Order: sequence, then structure tokens, then C-alpha cells
Amino acid sequence: MSVDWDEYRNDFPVIKNCTYLNNAAISPIPKIVYHEVVKFYNESLNYGGKRWNQWEKQIEQTRELFANFINATSPNEIAFTHSTSEGMNIFSHMLSSYGIVILNKLEFPSSNLPWINSNYRGNIRFVRSRNKNEIKICDIAELIEKTNSTNPKNPIKTIVTSHVQYSTGFKQDLVELSKLSKKYGIFLVINGTQSVGAMDFNVNKSGIDFMCINGHKWMLSSFGIGTIYIKNTYVKQGEVFMPKFFSQSGQKDKNLYTNNTRLCFSNTATRFEIGSPHIPNIIALNASLRYLSQIGSSKIEERILKLTDFLIEKLQSINLKILSPIAEKKNRSGIILFQSKTHNPIQLTRILEKKYNIIVSARANGIRVSPHFYNNEDDINKLVSVLDRIS
Ligand SMILES: Cc1ncc(COP(=O)(O)O)c(C=O)c1O
Repeated sequence: MSVDWDEYRNDFPVIKNCTYLNNAAISPIPKIVYHEVVKFYNESLNYGGKRWNQWEKQIEQTRELFANFINATSPNEIAFTHSTSEGMNIFSHMLSSYGIVILNKLEFPSSNLPWINSNYRGNIRFVRSRNKNEIKICDIAELIEKTNSTNPKNPIKTIVTSHVQYSTGFKQDLVELSKLSKKYGIFLVINGTQSVGAMDFNVNKSGIDFMCINGHKWMLSSFGIGTIYIKNTYVKQGEVFMPKFFSQSGQKDKNLYTNNTRLCFSNTATRFEIGSPHIPNIIALNASLRYLSQIGSSKIEERILKLTDFLIEKLQSINLKILSPIAEKKNRSGIILFQSKTHNPIQLTRILEKKYNIIVSARANGIRVSPHFYNNEDDINKLVSVLDRIS
């Protein structure tokens, strides 16, 4: 069944106020998310914590919705965090001491800094990529071979990478990467922030072990909410980063809060959750998950790729240099980075916003455009005709 994308535009009041093509930075929330969060605050205003049992059900429903959204085996593999950075810190704490970690220099700081911070005996290597805007799997394989043969006693144990790179929009082939990681017994840790919500994301099919995201980009949800996925096999092995009250065997078993002398972590990914849950943000995620699931991830991905294909064609028609690696369709995503011949990226994004009410971002050495499914060809035409005029 074909989707009437114009209908969905009504859910995004932002389109009346500006041409918003900046979903890789912060996406606007759809009306349903706004209404659900307002409902929560109304309940809180009028009933205090009297609605706790209902909120608790919503939390567990959200966990299940997210597990289904990424095709996890069980909700037990999902924990709520506050951000991608928190998720990556949990993983680096769990895995840094196992052996060498492979990072790359295209990553957003949240992917790399937690590992550099918990660097265990100089156990970090950066992939040297032969093309600076993408990470080739053959370069990762070469690094593994070389490192493991030089020092077989301290082999590579973890690969960290984004599924979609925040600046160039390069989309990694996770199926191929996980074949490589399995061949060498390496943990595969994915930053899914620029992918989940925009691309059809399937943890089982892609064979990854760990993944973290936040809610305020493609997930159309909220600041202050993130999730982690930890494959079942590893959940209980996970050393807990910051022992906290809420993760102790699950909230339900300890209503009297009398244990303050023993560590007693739950057997699910909830063991990584800190303190009382940020309920309004989880409710925001609950609403956005229902909304996105009802449209369907594969339809959303198809729509976004159609818009970025259109954008590529238009940018090329006015001779602007595209920095994103677009030669192979499988590496394309919701992010396109281009260069202006006449303005630096910060200058140009300011002009676009102040004079033309078009919102995009300056990232790395280019201008990043990131349409979501509620954008349309008119938004892109508007951007490109302004670029044509001022370049
Ligand atoms: C790939 C990527 N990871 C992480 C972040 C930041 O996430 P958080 O602020 O939730 O830690 C961003 C952007 O802000 C990003 O693009």
C-alpha cells in the first residue's frame, strides 16, 4: 500500500515556521509525542505519583516497542539511558579491558571518547581509511590481521563504529562487518544514533552485539532519553558502571528499599539503568515508537533515500561538490554533506537561517542536509534554488 506522505506533514507544525532539513541534529517532535508528554505532566500536576503503576506499565511497554522496532530477541536486551554518550560509556566500561579496540576518525566524539577515557594499556587503534569520507571493511580487516599477527597475545577484541556517520552520512554495511567480527571473535559495538528511526534497523539480521542511540534525532522523540541494546549472551557478563538503586533486581522486588549494603543486580539489561526512570522522556519515546512503527521502518527508509537521491541530483545540477560517498547506493543514508564554492560552512548555514529561514547544519568541512520523511521535494527545491542564487 502506498503511503500518503503529505498527510504526515500535518503532524509536524514545524513546517509552517521554517524549512527544516536538520533532523540529524535535532528533529521536531510530531503532535502525538507532544500530546502524550503533556498528558503525563497533567497527571503529575493533578495526581502526583498516584499514577505510578500505570507509568511503570508504560515503561515496560516502551521497552517492548523498542525491542520490536530493532528486532531484538527480547525486551531484556534493552535498557533506557539518557543519551548515546551514556550508552557508549557503559559499553566501554564493560569491554575496554578485554583487548584492543578499533575506532575511526570519522566518528562523532560520543563514539570514541568513552573508549579513549577508559583506555586500558594503550589498547586503541584507529582504522586508516583509504578514502577519508568512508570506512572500508577491507581496511578494518587489514588492521585486524596486522595487529593480531604482531601480537597474538593481545588481539583486537572490539570494533566501534557508527552505522551512519554523523558528518558524511556514510552507511556501513553491518552484515559484512559482523561477518568479519565473528571470524575473529570480536565484539561489534554500533552507534545507531544517525540510523535508527531513519533506516530499517534489524539487530538480528545485522548480527551486532551492542548498540546505543538517543531520542532527539531521527527517533522524533525527546532530549534526555536514549536506549542501549545488549545481545542476550552478554547482558549478565556486563560489569555495572555505576551501581544504582533502580537496577537492583528490578524495582518490583524491592518496594521497601531496605537493602543498602549488598549489590544485587537484575539479570536483564535494566541492570544498567541509573536511578528513578525519566518517565516523561520514556513516554515521549513510547509515542514516537508507536508512530514510527505504524508507518514502518522500511517505508521510512525508502522515503528518506528518495529525498536524498533527489537532493543529490539537484545539488549536482548546480555544480556543488558532494562530500558524502554516494557512488554506491548501499552506502547512502539520510545525510548529505556538500561544499560551497563561495562560503564557509558556518557562514552559509547562518545566511540560510537568517535570510531564508532554512535550517541545516555546518559539520566537518561541509554543509549537512538531513531530510526526514515529513520533508518533501519542495523543501529541497527551496534550499537548492537559494544555494544557486547565493553561490
Ligand atoms: C553519531 C552521534 N552520536 C552521538 C551524538 C550525541 O549524542 P548524545 O548527546 O545523546 O550523547 C550525536 C549528535 O549529537 C551523533 O551524531
